[in-house]
Order: sequence, then C-alpha cells, then structure tokens
Amino acid sequence: MQKTFTIGLLGCGNIGEAVALELLANKNPSLKLKKAFVKDLNKKRNIANSFLTNNADEILNDPEINLIIEVLGGEEPALGFVIKALQNKKHLVTANKELIAKHGPQIFETAFQNSVQVRLDATVGGGIPIINTILDSLKANEITEVVGILNGTTNYILTQMKRGHSFELALKEAQEKGYAEPDPTNDLEGIDAKYKISILASLAFGNYISPSQVFCQGIKDISVLDFNLAKELGFSIKLLGVAKKLNKDEIKVKVYPCLIPAKKPLAKIDDVLNAILVRGDLIQELLLVGSGAGAKPTSSAILGDVLSIQKLADSTQSYLPYKINSLIKPNQGVEHNYRFYVRLIVDDQVGVIRDLGNVLAKNNISLESISQKAYNDENIEHNNQTEEATLTFLTHEVSENDFELALREVKILKPIREIACILRVFE
Ligand SMILES: NC(=O)c1ccc[n+]([C@@H]2O[C@H](COP(=O)([O-])OP(=O)(O)OC[C@H]3O[C@@H](n4cnc5c(N)ncnc54)[C@H](OP(=O)(O)O)[C@@H]3O)[C@@H](O)[C@H]2O)c1
Repeated sequence: MQKTFTIGLLGCGNIGEAVALELLANKNPSLKLKKAFVKDLNKKRNIANSFLTNNADEILNDPEINLIIEVLGGEEPALGFVIKALQNKKHLVTANKELIAKHGPQIFETAFQNSVQVRLDATVGGGIPIINTILDSLKANEITEVVGILNGTTNYILTQMKRGHSFELALKEAQEKGYAEPDPTNDLEGIDAKYKISILASLAFGNYISPSQVFCQGIKDISVLDFNLAKELGFSIKLLGVAKKLNKDEIKVKVYPCLIPAKKPLAKIDDVLNAILVRGDLIQELLLVGSGAGAKPTSSAILGDVLSIQKLADSTQSYLPYKINSLIKPNQGVEHNYRFYVRLIVDDQVGVIRDLGNVLAKNNISLESISQKAYNDENIEHNNQTEEATLTFLTHEVSENDFELALREVKILKPIREIACILRVFE
C-alpha cells in the first residue's frame, strides 16, 4: 500500500492554486493537501480559506506534513523556509528556478544530511520533463551538450518580430496574453534562461554551475530589420541557452540570441513553446518540445515529482545530483569561436566598407558577406541630420577575443555611428 503523503504548499498563486485544485480533486487519495501558505489571506481564490495560512510555521513545524511544494518564487523567504522544512525531514518539490540555480548546493546538501528527497522538474521547461530525463532516463550517457529555447516569453516576442511586429508591439502582445510580466526584465535580459541553463548544465555535467558564471545576453538590441536580414542569409533568430562540454575540464555555458540556420529543428520552435536538445554518447540526439510554462503543464511536472517521491521515499537514500565544490569553471580556458553577425548604423558616405574591411583584416577577421542598404530601422531614433545607412556583415569563424578586439577599433571609426546589434551564429 502507498504511504499517505500530507502536503504543505508554500505559495498559492498561478501554479500553487492549480496544484492545490488537483490535490483537492482527490484523484489520488494517498495525497492530502493540508495547508497553503500565502501573503494575502483576503485575496480571492478558488480554494477554501480553511486551507490557507499566512504563518509558514504552521506548515514547516507540522509533524504530520511530510512533503512541501515550494511555489513562492524568488530567494527569500523561500530559501529559509525550504531549509527549515528539509531540516524537519520533509521532502521538497520546487518550481523555483532562481532558488535552485543560486542555492542548489545548500538545498541538496541539507536534504542529503536529513535523508529526504528534492525534486525540481518544474524549474525548467514547465511541463517538459527535461530534468527528470537528464537525471533518470539519460543516466547512462555522457552528456556533451544541452541547448534550449528556455523562455516562452522571449520566444513569443521573437516569433512575432519574425512576423513583422516591432519589439515594442510584440512585448505588448505578450503582456496582453499574460505571457510576460508587467516588469519583463528577467525574460528580456535572458536572466530567466540563465537560471535554467545553469541548472541544466549542473545536472548534465555533474558539477554545480552558478548562474553568476553564465555569460548572458538578452534580446533588446534585436529589431525587425535583423529578422529580414537574417532571413536573406538563411537564418532565423532565437534566444538559446547553450551548455557544451568542450573537453574533460572545459565547458561553456551561455545564454545569447543567435542566428540559427532556418532548417534546424530549434529554428522552427515558435510562439510560447520551449524546446531542449540534448546530445549524449549513447542517445546521440534527443529533442523535447512542449509548454514551457502555464499552470497546468507546470502542475503536471510538480505532481509527477510528488508521485516519484512517494514511490521511492521508503526505499532510497537522498543523493547529491552534482559535485558542489566543482573546480571546473565555465567559459574559461579554450577560446570559443563563432561566426558573428553585426549590424552597424553608419554615415552614408564613400569608403565606409573599405575602412571597416581594413580594421577587420588587420585583426585577421574575414567576411562571409557584407551589405550596405539605405534603409533604416524606423524604431531607432536618430537626431543627426547627416544621411545614414545600415551596414551588416557576417564574419567567418573567429575567436570571441579577436572579435572583441576588432570591434573596439570598429567602434571608433569616424563613419560608424552605432554598433546596433551583434549576434552569434549557432551552428
Ligand atoms: N507561472 C508559470 O508558468 C511558472 C512555470 C514554471 C515555474 N514557475 C515558478 O513557480 C513559482 C511560482 O510562480 P507563480 O507564477 O505561481 O507565482 P505567483 O502567481 O506570483 O504566486 C506566488 C505565490 O507565493 C506567495 N508569496 C510570494 N511571496 C510571498 C511572501 N513573501 N510571503 C508569503 N507569500 C508569498 C503569493 O501569495 P499571495 O497569493 O497572497 O500573493 C502567491 O500565492 C516561481 O518560482 C516560478 O518561477 C512558474
């Protein structure tokens, strides 16, 4: 007979309420919701007030509660609550990517010391079972690469821009549809994707990677013009989280918007969908696609984790999913080479391409294509009266360091008004 699990919810917002409603529907009588911790007891909700409390200790100190679902979000008070719950021998299921990305080592170590389980499938990819796939199904593989479209909001915005909508309009549409927060900074600057790729890289490569070690570039510099130019070159534009093992001791972990060949499967993942591609020595290549957010898909991941803990709770010890004090530091050592796409706003005058070509050649950068067009991005405001033009170029493969050195020189060339957009090419 299955052991009954009495559950305490920390948070009862978008995700918490969906989880609570599933538990209260009593589809699985061995899972009982006892209490949900919220900030505002007067908020209108779809669950009875008798289940709510604004005193977390009613959950954390209740000996009957043996599993906590943390869906508060953010670092505090979530971290303090989670540590206390683990010390009180309660299993933990969480959807909080920021918490796990920043404080995973402390959380897993505390769980290990107290012989309780931590499950986190909902932290990345919403309903896509990517974490459990890496931890369980792909266990026999040496994983060499994890690449994903990890943020549905930015994928929606980029998709709308591909369809010709300006960045501002696409963002407004995302907010109207409830895909983007009123303050969308974490999505637009790639911070949400950074938390997610740091979790995936840590689990895939078995070494804790802090989000502070992850290179991160957001999508704000991209304009509809870049989509048009990318299309002419045979590419689409996506925000990717990339974690790649270069050799035994060197890995790169980055979030960046990139040109991706339009024929690649990831280039075709549009709207709010997420997709994650994993490469391993045995599996070769695996692509998981699905809803990366939303109450129902995320509660699917959370409740799946609850059931897994319930099944294993009596028979397994807790474990550490990665080395906590890893000596491997991402993005150090081996040079990373890319093809780069650059869009410049320049004075529309003779000799610009020649001057640019000289600087690039001096820095050993050769060009695959270059084009100067009289059209401008109407979204960029320019006060200057002189005629201006848009100049774009695509380099052959070059090291990031050489490219950066060359760009410093490009920036100070007289006819260059602005380096408007730089995108790596994802091969
Ligand atoms: N939304 C998604 O699609 C999605 C998908 C995957 C993962 N996640 C993750 O799931 C977590 C929850 O997301 P959500 O969208 O459900 O957030 P949400 O709607 O903002 O809900 C947060 C809940 O936590 C409570 N809360 C927050 N801070 C509190 C505090 N200081 N004291 C007491 N209660 C507090 C809120 O109480 P009140 O209700 O009283 O305000 C609310 O019930 C986050 O970590 C998020 O990253 C979300």
